[in-house]
This record gives sequence, C-alpha cells and structure tokens, in this order.
Amino acid sequence: MHDFLPYAWFKGKCVPFEEAKLSIATHALHYGTGAFGGMRAIPDPQNPKNYLLFRADKHAKRLSQSAKLLLTELSEETILSSLRKWLRANKPTKPIYIRPFVYTSDLGIAPRLHNIETDFFIYGLELGDYLSPDGVTCRISSWKRQQDSSLPLRGKISGAYITSSLAKTEAVKSGFDEALLLNSNDKVSEASGMNLFIVRDGNLITPGVDQDILEGITRLSVIEIAKHHNINVIERPVDKTELFISDEVFLTGTAAKITPIKRIETTLLNSHRPIMEKLKSSLISITENKDQSFSHWITKVEIF
Ligand SMILES: Cc1ncc(COP(=O)(O)O)c(C=O)c1O
Repeated sequence: MHDFLPYAWFKGKCVPFEEAKLSIATHALHYGTGAFGGMRAIPDPQNPKNYLLFRADKHAKRLSQSAKLLLTELSEETILSSLRKWLRANKPTKPIYIRPFVYTSDLGIAPRLHNIETDFFIYGLELGDYLSPDGVTCRISSWKRQQDSSLPLRGKISGAYITSSLAKTEAVKSGFDEALLLNSNDKVSEASGMNLFIVRDGNLITPGVDQDILEGITRLSVIEIAKHHNINVIERPVDKTELFISDEVFLTGTAAKITPIKRIETTLLNSHRPIMEKLKSSLISITENKDQSFSHWITKVEIF
C-alpha cells in the first residue's frame, strides 16, 4: 500500500485525498487522453521549514507542453502555484513523489480532443527507491517504443504507457527488473520509465531526442552535470550491441534517479562505474541544494 499524502489538488482546490474521486465515465480513462508529470521533492536538510523541489520549472514546462499536445491549456504558472498551495496543505516531512495530471474530464464517449472539458489534479506519495540503487537486470523488450508519427512522444501522454506497462511486466515475468525498448529503427530508445546512458572510452553517450525518447528532465540534468565536470557528452543513436560492450550502462529518471544496470539479457556488465558514481554524487548534492553552482535548479517552498 502506498503512503499517499493527505490532500489532493482537485478541481481547483485542496481536498482530502479520499474525496478526490472520478466517475467511471471519465473520458480520459477510456481513451488515455491525459498527460502527467512526475517530480520529486525533499525536506530541506538545511532548514526543515522548507521543501525543495528539483527543477520545478522544467517539470511545469513539460507538463504545460503536454497539455498543449492534448490541445488544451495549462499554464506553467497555474501548475507551480497549485503545487505550492498543495505542498503547504500537506506539510510533508519525508521525500515525496508528486504526480500532477491533466486530462479530459468530461463524461461520455467518442475519442476526441475538441469540445471537451479538461481538468488538472495533483496528488503525492512518499517514495524511496523505485529501483534498487545497487543496480538492475534488464531484458530487451519484445515491445518497441512508439514513434513520434503516431503519438506525441514529447509529452508524457498517459495512453502511451500501455507500451511501458507491457514491457515492464514482460521483463519482470521473465525474471528481469526492467525493460529496454528499441525504437522502430531498432536503435536503443529508453527503459519503461527512464532514459538510458552508456559510457565508452570515457565518453558519455545517450540516444538523442530524435530516437523516440521521452525528453527526460533527469537526462537533461545529467548531461548538464557531465559537461560541468568536463565529461564529453555525445547524443547519438545507440545500437543494441553497444549495450553489451559498454564500460558503464545506467538509467536516469525522476523515480529511478540514477540506477546502474548490472546485467542485460545474459551479459554481465562492469561493476566499476566511475563516471556514473561521479554524476550520481553530484546529482544528490544538487537535489539537497548543497551545490551552489546548481542552486537555480532548486525551488524552495516554505511550508510551515
Ligand atoms: C517513458 C519515460 N522515459 C523517461 C523518463 C524519465 O524522465 P524524467 O527524468 O523527466 O523523470 C520517464 C519518467 O518520467 C518516462 O516515463
């Protein structure tokens, strides 16, 4: 059972989580016409009165863009101001995962995005590690990542997660922790809910935004941190074979943070991961607002 925070943001105000209920006829439930965000926030280790949101501006922007892709409007300001009010109502004391969601809220049938009401809610839960920080085993999924020509992949569109769900369950049922998906050109795209990086000869390599990935905010942050440490970053197509011979392979995502991959299919990978370790310790100190060079990535919300 999850530890949901006591209040949800629902229909423009904070209500007890149990009262934030939707009808079975809600349009988005049937057609996957929603889009969500996923953010993490932690109590400020330096001042327990504050809560620290990681890259709130980027998350608000991506969600606002996702709404646009669903042909509705949700401004970054609305997202951020609702988030602040919601955090102050909940007064969390532990690290949390925040799930804002924009969706077609009308009741009734017919898949469409015109002449339809939309709404926005937020809820949250306490969340520790989503994947084991010691590393995970991965299989190459038999499901391919969708292509941008059939689905707007720049948004976190809820309907797209059928593929992630199929891939994740296929991986778990066949004895692995996580799934790696190739795209329709058979290049490596990403995992079920994380982006992927490899290290080869000191270069940090990740599939580019043209490889049908979700434009992950942790991915972007890792690229920026790597450049700050003078690590050479290359965004390019990655072949399946490269996964097996890379010096390091790891996943990035809000839920997964930075998680190393220990084994892919039957191939054991290196357990010495100096570049990943460097990036991971930087990311941790940035999220705790202990690195002044990146303090602009942190939004402080005074909650008490
Ligand atoms: C399909 C998919 N790819 C990648 C990511 C990683 O994105 P982010 O770092 O913004 O959490 C996520 C998680 O949001 C995701 O759902």
